Amino acid sequence: MSIDPTEVPTATYAAEPAPRHTPHPEPPPPGAEHIDWEVLHDKAVELMRKAYAPYSKFPVGVAGVVEDGRIVAGCNVENAAYGVGLCAECGMVSELHATGGGRLVAVACVGGDGEPLMPCGRCRQLLWENGGPQCLLLTPEGVLPMSEVLPQAFGADDLDAGHRA
Ligand code: THU
Repeated sequence: MSIDPTEVPTATYAAEPAPRHTPHPEPPPPGAEHIDWEVLHDKAVELMRKAYAPYSKFPVGVAGVVEDGRIVAGCNVENAAYGVGLCAECGMVSELHATGGGRLVAVACVGGDGEPLMPCGRCRQLLWENGGPQCLLLTPEGVLPMSEVLPQAFGADDLDAGHRA
């Protein structure tokens, strides 16, 4: 199908910007009904204070609740070979599996000021793998499901969807 650029309506582009976040249909995941966000945030701050970030001087801490109620957490660990530094979420996901696995149902990530921090793109993918679309994330704009934090995510389903050569 070819598009005639002269027929593309331009007026609509000048309309009000869409709301940044539309209301989401995701129900909270099982185990997320009674998340104590203050406890989770405090744990993330505690881990942020343990970060090893001498190069960026940007400490990050993250904490997550697993479906069975346990809390896992991590901090960023940098390296003189900058590219091999580990994000805080890597440590948290490692603890998740090292302590029995399961699904993350809620996560809080903070920067050096103790305020909620949006995970980087790679770490959103880690959260998606280990928490799925319903996992809740404390963001600077409130609690959002991962389906809004990483829309149209690539995931395990795509591997089964027949895209292989
Ligand atoms: N960082 C994390 O630990 N998690 C994120 O989601 C964002 C970035 C770390 C990596 C690096 O050590 C520092 O923050 C600055 O980018």
